Amino acid sequence: MIICPVCSKKMTKIERKYICERAHNFDISKYNHVNLLLSNQKNSKIPGDSKEMVLSRKNYLEKGYYKGISDGVNQVVENYLSDKKQLNILDIGCGEGYYTNRLKKKLDELNIKSNIVGIDISKEAIISAAKSYKDMEWIVASASSLPIENEALDFIICMFAKIIPEENMRALKKGGKLIVVSTGENHLLQLKEVVYESVRKDFYSPIEDLKMFRHLETVNLKYNIEILERESIENLFNMTPYRWRSPQKGIEKLFELDKLTTTVEVNIDIFEKN
Ligand SMILES: C[S@@+](CC[C@H](N)C(=O)[O-])C[C@H]1O[C@@H](n2cnc3c(N)ncnc32)[C@H](O)[C@@H]1O
Repeated sequence: MIICPVCSKKMTKIERKYICERAHNFDISKYNHVNLLLSNQKNSKIPGDSKEMVLSRKNYLEKGYYKGISDGVNQVVENYLSDKKQLNILDIGCGEGYYTNRLKKKLDELNIKSNIVGIDISKEAIISAAKSYKDMEWIVASASSLPIENEALDFIICMFAKIIPEENMRALKKGGKLIVVSTGENHLLQLKEVVYESVRKDFYSPIEDLKMFRHLETVNLKYNIEILERESIENLFNMTPYRWRSPQKGIEKLFELDKLTTTVEVNIDIFEKN
């Protein structure tokens, strides 16, 4: 289901390369990932999350604080399996692959064959994913130009990442599901209360932007976590967009804490292609 980023023709894996019908070819790295991001698809010299952000996210997620989010997404996929025994799944903006890998494991447990591809515009994120998790395909590519055939996918997962409705519509099968995970109103509320003098509660709902799909439901997930290591508090902060726009004083206050109890709240929106 992988297509050439240059001519959109189907690609085949031959030895250590992806090769298309017009002979454009892309090397598979020693980590088993492929870079299909063309220079005109980059929004900056080093697009997407940096090596430091990727490492913070990896170290934080591996502690299991967001296992509840992963379980919630896996449950939603299970609920919408119908009687399918073979699935094509794309995780867009997959980061370092924590959620992608847990979904793969869940489907294996359910005896569902799955062909899972994780894409991210960050080379560092994809290298990290490919080094850690072996039985999926990892591709550096942009959400704006998916290297995926038309109507190939049963599920698209988009967790805290860029949504390009037209591309998602093109790549999904009819009846395919788009699962969008976004932060809820109270997400990390107590962390924000430490960093900012006043906290404005808000959240993004993707429903307006995805009107071309049928919205099936919103699953709200909310629980508290108690973070008991300074390192994880720092990692959590550094993997959020707050790292770019917080007052230094607030950051110092947060990094002095030995423990932090905070709310995790996400909304999982499920959409269908008619
Ligand atoms: C907030 S992180 C979420 C990562 C992962 N889904 C998770 O929840 O742990 C957003 C990810 O989207 C990637 N990203 C940003 N712009 C992108 C684009 N245009 N296409 C694909 N990925 C993109 C970033 O590099 C980053 O890894």
